[in-house]
Amino acid sequence: MSVTDHLGGGYLRQALESDVRAGLTSSPKWLPPKWFYDAAGSELFSRITRLAEYYPTRRELEILRRRAVDVAGLTRADTLVELGSGTSEKTVLLLDALANAGTLRAYTPVDVDAVTLAAAAERLAVRYPGLDTRPVRADFEQHLALLPRTGRRLVAFLGGTIGNLPPAAREMFLKELRATLRPGDTVLLGADLVKDPARLVRAYDDPGGVTAAFNRNVLRVLNRELDADFEPEAFEHVALWDEDNEWIEMRLRATRPMEVGIGALGLTVTFAEGEETRTEISAKFRREGMLDELSRAGFAVCRWYTDSAGDFALTLAAIPPPNTP
Ligand code: AVJ
Repeated sequence: MSVTDHLGGGYLRQALESDVRAGLTSSPKWLPPKWFYDAAGSELFSRITRLAEYYPTRRELEILRRRAVDVAGLTRADTLVELGSGTSEKTVLLLDALANAGTLRAYTPVDVDAVTLAAAAERLAVRYPGLDTRPVRADFEQHLALLPRTGRRLVAFLGGTIGNLPPAAREMFLKELRATLRPGDTVLLGADLVKDPARLVRAYDDPGGVTAAFNRNVLRVLNRELDADFEPEAFEHVALWDEDNEWIEMRLRATRPMEVGIGALGLTVTFAEGEETRTEISAKFRREGMLDELSRAGFAVCRWYTDSAGDFALTLAAIPPPNTP
């Protein structure tokens, strides 16, 4: 299976370099979450989704099991584009529903990790022999305009990954997504909902330490890709609930003073004991806020689906027809 790669030719390296330089020379320090997902990070995330404490994946699956047929009937999409597709485990429910509705022709999974992407595309191509499967390795914040532009598209952005974007970037992303779509196209957006902070924190700080290993993995990526000399075990995993912003924040806390060389950048970064580097925000949403953001970006919301516990939501939104003069 051939993967269309928009991150090749030094692109990924360039983006990683500029993110790491910007983030680690800032105060406070930060790193963007997209760099968690090399093959090892994707595998760790896959383990997270099976943890008892990490409810979002199961809740979203529950919604999809119950609503995929409804989504297929409403969208009548022939092309499913999935942003941040990962292992495409939940996608099967949408593909089955669209296939049964008789509209499905093409599937384009989009992810930053080439290994996970190729494996998932291969698996689905076997399961759906007639399906035109075209995996694209891309950054959904940069390459939306390069995604398929034909057919009646359903863009699925599942898992709550939209919550990883800070509000300004989220607004930009939604507007750009809107701009690449036409009337008839639809978007299915997964979002984790605000709930008891203790449950939220537990979902991002499991006792088995899988999330901690996932968090530290970004340092291994920097060691390998940028010739850095981080000692991942010298950093402690931190997950906290930011009440004002209503997001979970993950950080890596230096357990002692350190000087870390980043060979490829010719940079030495100093960490004070206890200093924290932000590695992820995962925003949690409320119905009003989500619907508001979508309509301000130019979408017409058609359905708001939640699971039986009200933990997670899928929003189905359409592109309204152009105004008739
Ligand atoms: C894949 C981005 C949805 O924010 O919940 C899981 C990533 N981070 N545990 C999330 C994640 C820590 C996850 N997303």
